[in-house]
Amino acid sequence: MSVIGGTEETTTGVLRLRAMERRRLLPYPVVAINDAETKRLFDNRFGTAQSSLDGIIRATNELIAGKTVVIAGYGHCGRGIASRARGLGADVIIAEVNPIRALEAVMDGFRVMELLDAAPVGNIFIAATGSISVIRREHFAHMEDGAILSNAGHFNVEVDLNDLESAAVNRRTLRPNVEQFETADGRRLILLAEGRVVNLGAADGHPASVMDLSFAAHALAVEWLAEQNGVLEIGVHQLPSELDLRVAEMKLASMGRSIDVLTERQRNYLDSYEEGTK
Ligand SMILES: NC(=O)c1ccc[n+]([C@@H]2O[C@H](COP(=O)([O-])OP(=O)(O)OC[C@H]3O[C@@H](n4cnc5c(N)ncnc54)[C@H](O)[C@@H]3O)[C@@H](O)[C@H]2O)c1
Repeated sequence: MSVIGGTEETTTGVLRLRAMERRRLLPYPVVAINDAETKRLFDNRFGTAQSSLDGIIRATNELIAGKTVVIAGYGHCGRGIASRARGLGADVIIAEVNPIRALEAVMDGFRVMELLDAAPVGNIFIAATGSISVIRREHFAHMEDGAILSNAGHFNVEVDLNDLESAAVNRRTLRPNVEQFETADGRRLILLAEGRVVNLGAADGHPASVMDLSFAAHALAVEWLAEQNGVLEIGVHQLPSELDLRVAEMKLASMGRSIDVLTERQRNYLDSYEEGTK
């Protein structure tokens, strides 16, 4: 039996599949579940935020209130972490490479600066970019004694472990998921969960009550792929918006929440070009 199609959950997975699509290496159509609104606006934002902070708190038992938390990446994950860290009383600094995201962070009321400038003032660093070597040698060189390093984004590559190891003259495990790297000038940098995603390494990952949204999207996408068998072109596809909306409707219903519907008058108004133009 041949494969009809696939569905992909993660931001990084979708990036890789798009790279395969550009090189014409995809063998079948794939639905980018990560790009569905009911996935990234909830799982990436609320799920990653809560579970990453949970991981940091479980591992270290640090009080977040009053700490300076530096977040690299103000995407779906970074935005969520920033808002939750602020809610816990942290002074939040954002580092970005995308000017629109950086501007958004400024207007959301966060301090935005280059990571190098944030390095000496941060107490807790959280990388959530999907990229490699984001927190690295030059940042470690400027960090305060006791700075905590964590990754909420991708694999174990966002905090540069090679750079950290080579900056250290001594390393020891302080408690599970907490490793101290002592530099030649006597500063202690604290790495959480071996630089792996801290919400999985040091906590239980996302709560089921946010994963259900993504998994519902996968289930509907699989059904849609089966219906589209032989019709859909090979490539990376968006989840059709009606299915995205259906996931949200089902979630709202499961939470016992109901919402308004457009009246016929409103539908006609929104659909017209004669009204509201003069
Ligand atoms: N820990 C988890 O459970 C979990 C859950 C969802 C997603 N993720 C992962 O988190 C990562 C981010 O996902 P997302 O949905 O927020 O992606 P996103 O594309 O919405 O955001 C990433 C942001 O990082 C910025 N960025 C990239 N390189 C940077 C750098 N060097 N310095 C500062 N900013 C930089 C980008 O400009 C972008 O705004 C991905 O790898 C994704 O797979 C993890």
